[in-house]
Amino acid sequence: MRRLFPVPPVTDPTAGPDPDRTDREWSLAELAAAYAYPEPDGRREPWLRANMVSTLDGAAQHDGRSQPISSAADMRVFGTLRALADVVIAGAETVRQEGYRPARVRPDFAEARRAAGQSPVPVIAVVTAGLELDFSLPLFTSPVVPTLILTGAAAAPDRIAAAEKAGARVVIAGDGVGVDPARALTALAGLGHTRLLTEGGPRLLGQFVAAGVLDELCLTVSPMLTAGDAQRIAGGPAVGVPRRFALASLLEEEGFLFSRYRRD
Ligand SMILES: NC(=O)c1ccc[n+]([C@@H]2O[C@H](COP(=O)([O-])OP(=O)(O)OC[C@H]3O[C@@H](n4cnc5c(N)ncnc54)[C@H](OP(=O)(O)O)[C@@H]3O)[C@@H](O)[C@H]2O)c1
Repeated sequence: MRRLFPVPPVTDPTAGPDPDRTDREWSLAELAAAYAYPEPDGRREPWLRANMVSTLDGAAQHDGRSQPISSAADMRVFGTLRALADVVIAGAETVRQEGYRPARVRPDFAEARRAAGQSPVPVIAVVTAGLELDFSLPLFTSPVVPTLILTGAAAAPDRIAAAEKAGARVVIAGDGVGVDPARALTALAGLGHTRLLTEGGPRLLGQFVAAGVLDELCLTVSPMLTAGDAQRIAGGPAVGVPRRFALASLLEEEGFLFSRYRRD
């Protein structure tokens, strides 16, 4: 891993290799520092970050999964972003297709999470209207912290009952069957969760983009071409005016680019 942006300052060449410019394995602590959430400035407003991977030609999956377009370094970044978050928000289709499991305790991050007042692992929050999820899975029956179901007020009561019986906590964040993206963030903040991470998928991310509530995009550009008709990282109706983001940092490992963009 090496940093490409911000461009590392030129150091004294006689002082030995510059660690920022050298291609070397970064420690998890270094990765965590590179991806730290902004310090809360007294406000308890949520900060929504998305983490997505895309091929060079814009595919967000291959054969219905993101794993074929990812890499070991991408998974390290993925794990680090999870370790920094209070909540991981995922669309139900991603949970179904990727076979989501409960977040696992990472000893390397335990102390930092304790110091930040966070639970040992991030809460997984599943966004769903139909609640057609297998509530017998470990994601619902045996997570370290209860999994959240974000849904609308008109969701089927029997499915809500099934989710709660399995141990999930159901949070209403919409008046119909669906979830209002902005209201979901407010509801999570109301539960004390302000360091938010969404892992997509594209249909969910598109709604966060359209609602204007996405603060940051951590985008891995995978050096692969897939052609075909795979989804892009954000779907749904186009926004009226393209949303402008600013590059905050760019890292590279084995041709994979790890960019971090913030709302301009
Ligand atoms: N490249 C990447 O970084 C990346 C990341 C994540 C996923 N993926 C890929 O993307 C694919 C899945 O993504 P997707 O876009 O099809 O689906 P998705 O966004 O993960 O999930 C869509 C589902 O989420 C629920 N949902 C979304 N918006 C909602 C709202 N406003 N209110 C209530 N429920 C809502 C609905 O669930 P119900 O049907 O249960 O009502 C909907 O069917 C998979 O192939 C996965 O591998 C790629």
